[in-house]
Amino acid sequence: MLESDKIWLDGQSIDYNDAKVHVLTHGLHYGTGIFEGIRSYATESGHAIFRLDDHIKRLYNSGKAYFMQFDFTPDEIKKATINVVKANRLGDCYVRIIAFYGYGKLGVNPLPNKVSIAITAWKWTEHIRKEDLEQGIHMMVSSWEKVGSKSLPTHAKGVANYANSALARMEALKSGFDEAILLNSNGHVVEASAENIFLAKNGVLYTPPISSGALEGITRDTVIAIAQKNNIKVIFDNISRDELYYFDEIFLTGTASEIVPVGYIDHRKIGHGHMGYMTSLIREQFAKIVTGREKSYQDWLTYL
Ligand SMILES: Cc1ncc(COP(=O)(O)O)c(C=O)c1O
Repeated sequence: MLESDKIWLDGQSIDYNDAKVHVLTHGLHYGTGIFEGIRSYATESGHAIFRLDDHIKRLYNSGKAYFMQFDFTPDEIKKATINVVKANRLGDCYVRIIAFYGYGKLGVNPLPNKVSIAITAWKWTEHIRKEDLEQGIHMMVSSWEKVGSKSLPTHAKGVANYANSALARMEALKSGFDEAILLNSNGHVVEASAENIFLAKNGVLYTPPISSGALEGITRDTVIAIAQKNNIKVIFDNISRDELYYFDEIFLTGTASEIVPVGYIDHRKIGHGHMGYMTSLIREQFAKIVTGREKSYQDWLTYL
């Protein structure tokens, strides 16, 4: 991982190598943490963090599900995030905010323990290969069922949910695929291990509803706004596994991966097996928005 200089931990800016927690931290043993992944982009007017307010709002909503009492207001976390990016002299970067129940009592109940928050940032390097952008990634439908809201709060970006994601991702990679698609207990498509999913057919865009168990992705919301601006109809609908094979285009959305075309699912070619018209239109407009070239979306940018 690319190391940076400073990490913000519970109100203090400390050296990267000093940002340590005790091995008996509650969140480490029981998954009692929540987090956010955020991006900062280079724009013509300097660097800007994309949809920072929305990420901080989701962080606090995630915390609510776990009864987390934060020592800091959303505004303080916002300022601290900007300062972390500045202190590390980072431009294009990935920001990770994590809140977790800390060291104290190690019973299952985390409530006696203090909630810690850490804000970290590191230089962004593209992680999608050129051929994957052209031809799309290869996905498999996971044998792991997506954890549902009867088991864990799926509206929360909770650390515990990612054990499910990690199992699905490992299975996909070990089976020679790039990424996994998870189905819920009703057999409906939910999302990928760390991205939402969109599907296009006959010029209409489909995506599973949040009630399927999908994370309310901020990139998902951005894509919906782009589609609406381009008069592309978006339908929130349950999709079965075999329906997946018959869409013209499929793409994934997420803060880290942005918009990723899907070429194959379970060895079946999707559409023509390369990035389609709708995916490339949305990718282009997304790139314009995050880099400040689309004036009507300036509210989504927090300039450093
Ligand atoms: C499970 C899951 N779904 C969807 C997303 C996409 O969310 P966002 O666009 O807010 O990054 C992510 C990424 O954080 C994720 O981990």
